[in-house]
Order: sequence, then C-alpha cells, then structure tokens
Amino acid sequence: MKVLVIGGGGREHALAWKLAQSPRVDEVLVAPGNAGTARESGCRNIAVSAEDIDALLALAREEGVGFTVVGPEAPLAAGVVDAFAEAGLRCFGPRRAAAQLEASKAFTKAFLARHGIPTADYATFTEADAACAWIDERGAPIVVKADGLAAGKGVVVAPDVATAKQAVHDMLGLDGARVVIEECLLGEEASFIVVADGTDYVAFPSSQDHKRIGDGDTGPNTGGMGAYSPAPVVTETVEQRIRDTVIAPTLAGLAADGIAFTGFLYAGVMIDADGNPRVLEFNVRMGDPETQPLLMRLRSDLLDLLEAAVDHRLDAVTPDWDERAALGVVLAAEGYPASARKGDAIGGLDGDTPPATKVFHAGTRVGDDGSAITDGGRVLCACALGADIAEAKARAYDVVNIIDWPGMQYRRDIGWRALR
Ligand code: AMP
Ligand code: GLY
Repeated sequence: MKVLVIGGGGREHALAWKLAQSPRVDEVLVAPGNAGTARESGCRNIAVSAEDIDALLALAREEGVGFTVVGPEAPLAAGVVDAFAEAGLRCFGPRRAAAQLEASKAFTKAFLARHGIPTADYATFTEADAACAWIDERGAPIVVKADGLAAGKGVVVAPDVATAKQAVHDMLGLDGARVVIEECLLGEEASFIVVADGTDYVAFPSSQDHKRIGDGDTGPNTGGMGAYSPAPVVTETVEQRIRDTVIAPTLAGLAADGIAFTGFLYAGVMIDADGNPRVLEFNVRMGDPETQPLLMRLRSDLLDLLEAAVDHRLDAVTPDWDERAALGVVLAAEGYPASARKGDAIGGLDGDTPPATKVFHAGTRVGDDGSAITDGGRVLCACALGADIAEAKARAYDVVNIIDWPGMQYRRDIGWRALR
C-alpha cells in the first residue's frame, strides 16, 4: 500500500519513518516533507503544500494512495479529513468540527465547562475594557490567550496585572479578535496523547515537552525544545485520573455533541501537588517534538494502529511499547523563536548514528548538492532510547555533539524534571 503523510516537520519525519517500517507499506509519500524524509528509505517527498487540500486530493488519487495520515493542525482545521472522506479516501485525523478543540480556545473552554472536565477557571472577551476589569478583579498571575491557532505563541502567562492588560490590548488589536483569560494553574505539565476511533482509544505512554527556549525553563515559549517519555510525574494513579477525568469524558462529550473524534488527541495537562490533572489545552494531532521519542518506543506496526482507528476497531488493538525510555533534543536555528537564520549547511549528518538513536529532521531542505540545509526555526531532533531517562539523555547528547552548523542552539537540560 502507498501511504501519504501530510506535513513537513519533525513529527512528520517520525511518522513517515515509522510507517515505512510496516511490511504492508510499499512507499510513504510525504507532502511536502523535508531533507530527512527525502533521505529516508521507503519515503518520497512530493512538492505539495500541507495546506493545499485540492492538490493533496489530486495527489492521493493520482498515486493511488491507500491511507493518509495528517501531521499538522492547519489542514485538519481546514477540513482535509472531511474532503478526503467525501472523496472516498481513507484519512486519519479528526474532521473539521472536531478540530475546533485545538483551533478555538473559546470553543474548548465552553466544551470543558459543559462536560465537567477539569480546567482553569476562565472568561472570554471581545472588549478590552471588560477584559481588563476581570483582570483587576482576579489579580496576577493570570493567563491571557488569543483565540485561534497561534503555533504556541498566542499565550501570555502574565506575572503582573500590567503585563496581562498589555497582552489583552495586543491580542484584541485585530478585528473580530477574542481573548480567553484564565486562572494561572500551578504544578507540573505533561502531555498525554491517545489514538481515538470515535468511541475507544489507545494511549501512548506519557511524555513531557520543554516549551521555553532556555535552560531551566527560562525565556520565551517555543513550539518545544525537547521531549522525553515516560514522564515520571504521570504515575499510575495520575494516568488513571487523566484517563477517567479528561480523556474518556472528552471523547464521550464530543460523541454526544455529534462530533465524534477520530485521530490523535493530545491533552496538555497541569498536574497539581495532589496529583490532580487539569486541562491546559488540547491538540488534535501528535505533539512535536513528543512524537519523535514516542515513536522510538513503538515496537508494533503504526499503520495497523491507525487503520484500526479509522475502521472503528481500536478495541481489538494493543500496541507493543519498548520498556526503555526515549529522549529527544531539538536543535534550533540562531534567532529562534523570534526569527530563524536559514540556509546553512548542516554538518555531521552523513555518518551512521549509534544503535537506538535517530536524528529526525524538521526545518531542513535538500540543497543543490544534495546536502541538508537549515530551513526553519526548529531544525533537527536528536533522539535516543536508554535503560532510563538518564541513559537516553546521555546517548541523545552524544548524537547532538556530532552535529553542527553556524548559530545552532539547543537546551542542555532536556529531561531535568525527570532527573531531579
Ligand atoms: P497553551 O497553548 O494553552 O497550551 O499554552 C501554552 C503554555 O502556556 C502551556 O504549555 C503552559 O506552559 C502555559 N499555560 C497555558 N495556560 C496556563 C494556565 N492556565 N496556567 C498556567 N500556565 C498556563
Ligand atoms: N510540543 C507541543 C505541541 O506540539 O504543541
């Protein structure tokens, strides 16, 4: 079977790499892919944008694609799964109506409240005066979020009232803009990702991302600078609470609302000192970079799992997970996250990496001479498996040390919460 992966980031390289290992897959097409998927055995890049739904449909028809996996949120929110389904093509991901869970924070907060799913107390505003009055009433710290897809950059965790009000004015500057203002939750964040088939789900092991650019979780938020799995904060008890109070009622609530969810559902949760989870956000896709270490741990066939979801028979599937831990370190370009220096040749990618390690590409393209060139903010993710997080970390940084380009930056402390 030919499989199509939509997207061109690190998550999509990992998805394509894993799908290409399936004995039932002849070839993985990646639209548009990156230099990593261009080099990956069994994969072929196609120069079609991840957001051009008509061109993606035409591609799937021309190539006789049997199954499509959507990586990023933008095509999901634009209805790519609806379009493929109407054309009679099998495509893994939520339909547009269900993708609102990521695309609109106002929708999600109302959904959570309606179904009694734990989350921060909040209010939604379109008027700056009313928003500022609520900020005065609640005091700081307080969190201000732009409604709509913002690639992780539409959130300000304001330490004081003035910062919160400034954020309101910045975000409401656009016509028709809305902000969600919410209580600042304390605790430790974790990512809990499941594959859902509308009714049943299969959970990935827990994972944790590092959102800030700097060591010790300092500096601005990014798309994610590194991740590892499992996350020790998600003990067996905490996992059961996430399943019972977040995942199960969310899937049941969506089904009851007539928008049953098929696809990857990613719950970003804050776990308080008593081990109680509250929802910070949902994503309707895999996390990036969580996908890279998580798929290093998947031993069984990814196509089998995703096909079972589309066919609504997940109750019959039990994936096989590697007992080992996995950790990935993101290597980013100079200037990220504000900007990104592009066009540099990446050194150190040609030799073999040690066993149970893997370098996933993200913002890279193939240069004229066939080499990999930096082409985005997050460029690579160096991953490794290890007996525990400490060993996975040491092995991932051994790989980092082989790689170099001008201005390359990365965090030295990925995994620190697990190693405290
Ligand atoms: P979001 O895009 O909603 O996940 O927000 C991005 C990041 O902002 C989260 O990963 C958290 O680190 C932080 N954040 C969001 N909402 C809250 C909140 N209510 N309390 C504390 N931190 C938050
Ligand atoms: N790593 C966080 C995200 O994918 O949104």
